[in-house]
Amino acid sequence: MTEKKSFRIAVTGKGGVGKTTITGLILKYLIRKGLKPVLVIDADPSINLPDLVGVNFDDSIGGIRENGFDGKDLSVSKSDFFQYKAECAISECDDFDLLVMGRPEGPGCYCFVNNILRNVLDTISRNYRFVLMDCEAGLEHLSRRTTRDIDLLVLVVDGSRKSFLTAKTIVDLAGSLKTRIGRVCLVLNGSRGTDGKVTESWLNDLREFSDFEITVPNDPEVASFETEKKSILRIPDDSTAYKAMSEGMDKILPLKNNENSGIYRVPAKPEHA
Ligand SMILES: Nc1ncnc2c1ncn2[C@@H]1O[C@H](COP(=O)(O)OP(=O)(O)OP(=O)(O)O)[C@@H](O)[C@H]1O
Ligand SMILES: [Mg+2]
Repeated sequence: MTEKKSFRIAVTGKGGVGKTTITGLILKYLIRKGLKPVLVIDADPSINLPDLVGVNFDDSIGGIRENGFDGKDLSVSKSDFFQYKAECAISECDDFDLLVMGRPEGPGCYCFVNNILRNVLDTISRNYRFVLMDCEAGLEHLSRRTTRDIDLLVLVVDGSRKSFLTAKTIVDLAGSLKTRIGRVCLVLNGSRGTDGKVTESWLNDLREFSDFEITVPNDPEVASFETEKKSILRIPDDSTAYKAMSEGMDKILPLKNNENSGIYRVPAKPEHA
């Protein structure tokens, strides 16, 4: 059996439900708990994560193709070349590394970006204890199997019916692909767009598929950090959104096994009442 060293977390859900915000809060949690090294991947072509965590990036995978492999240097294979470029595109920040997938320049090139992402997950990601991905609104990455072998799928929903439908489609699709999903965590974020109530029957539909549930309140501090362009990583530990995420993550990640070696495992699936 091959040993996989990194614990992979993919954050997904409908557009605008708070995926990037939740990714930022999970990143803050991992850093606060000393769970390093962490590779954060912005796998959403609209590239919002660097701004949220206050990082300037030079290169994205989508941009690589333009000045890409010309085949002249026959001593390097195309895949080695792109692997090298992917490594060069990683921004090294104080507490984590960041890789931005970005948007391919030409038409029909998403499989190229996704192939590189798959390559990164198979190779570079092994150097990290945690790999955290902010995935796009649709099912692009799952359907192209680039989020295969996910230890924790974080499904973000707000109060809207559409967000529940999207989440349901994602888990349905994940079940029909070869993607191995370890655990699923449902995040009820903000309950914006409704009167604050979440319809119980929609929730129950998803509870069938989820192992953990975290309710993150609508937090004015999150909003003001965004408006003031402050990194979400600096949000106070007692901000209501961070507190909720942090308490939820404590239940998911077994901190007592907080040593630097070995595979990181989530606890056994809890019994549903
Ligand atoms: N818990 C929260 N409290 C207050 N504001 C929030 C909360 N979660 C998200 N927001 C705000 O909602 C907006 C959308 O959040 P975010 O960008 O994280 O969503 P997204 O799902 O990543 O969107 P997209 O699909 O466009 O990438 C942002 O302005 C963000 O600050
Ligand atoms: Mg986003």
